[in-house]
Amino acid sequence: MAKRVAIGNNKGGAKKSTTAVRLAEALAKRGQRVGVLDLDPQGNASRRLGWTEDPDSPSLTTSEAIEANAEGVAAQVWQPIGWQAEYADRITLMPARYTLEDRATEAGQRGAWRRLAKALRGADDHLDYVLIDCPPSLGHLTQMGLAAAHFALASTEPEYDSVEAAVRYRDFVAASGEDLGNPDLRFIGIVVSGYDMRVGAHVGQLGGVRELFGDSLWGVVPRRALVANADEYAEPLSQMADSHEVRAVFELLAERFEKEVSPA
Ligand SMILES: Nc1ncnc2c1ncn2[C@@H]1O[C@H](COP(=O)(O)OP(=O)(O)OP(=O)(O)O)[C@@H](O)[C@H]1O
Ligand SMILES: [Mg+2]
Repeated sequence: MAKRVAIGNNKGGAKKSTTAVRLAEALAKRGQRVGVLDLDPQGNASRRLGWTEDPDSPSLTTSEAIEANAEGVAAQVWQPIGWQAEYADRITLMPARYTLEDRATEAGQRGAWRRLAKALRGADDHLDYVLIDCPPSLGHLTQMGLAAAHFALASTEPEYDSVEAAVRYRDFVAASGEDLGNPDLRFIGIVVSGYDMRVGAHVGQLGGVRELFGDSLWGVVPRRALVANADEYAEPLSQMADSHEVRAVFELLAERFEKEVSPA
């Protein structure tokens, strides 16, 4: 079984999808086989990884994997990503589209919270890690992700509402493992992303994150236009000009990730 890490924050725009996609890129460059599981009906991680869908022949997505309510069915859903990079074939995607929202309405059905874990059983043995890109909520979709995960990682902007929402995510994880049938679930870290040292609030909030999370702060990704552009154009960072500094930051984050999350 791959080690699964749910990347979350109870606020939108907290850089969750960027963290998932760029960590996947850095890990794949280091030789790891990584699955990105898009658990957000917005499907941002899927698009940024270059995934496109033929409307005449719709793909299986995370939504169908959950809906099937069957052991191991997720094995049929992994798909190649669209990037042109020599390490791209080490990243595999479980894509999402807006129809994933329909699964949220099934929360009251018997055993609904464990349907993703059930779908993944035996379906990620060919991978080292699975990064689960959660939606900006602590609702049913995120709870399914946490029920399936071994670890939880937060990402946050260095701004008050985002940091507060990261604390909510951390505390929710700590309080919910038992309820989600996953008592070993553990919060392992936080990444601050979009940091601009010229913004007083960012400097203050980074200090706050250090106090609140201590050694669980894995690193700080600076605010750089090229990161937003890479996401916008669905490109790997390795194809963006002047990306050396940012790639080095994600490389360090990937090293820390490997230390905290050893493969099974
Ligand atoms: N280091 C960075 N510098 C500049 N822009 C960034 C950086 N990291 C991410 N961004 C941009 O910030 C925006 C928000 O990031 P992202 O979509 O990853 O957040 P999110 O938490 O996944 O949002 P949502 O809650 O909607 O899923 C995106 O446009 C992304 O490209
Ligand atoms: Mg997102």
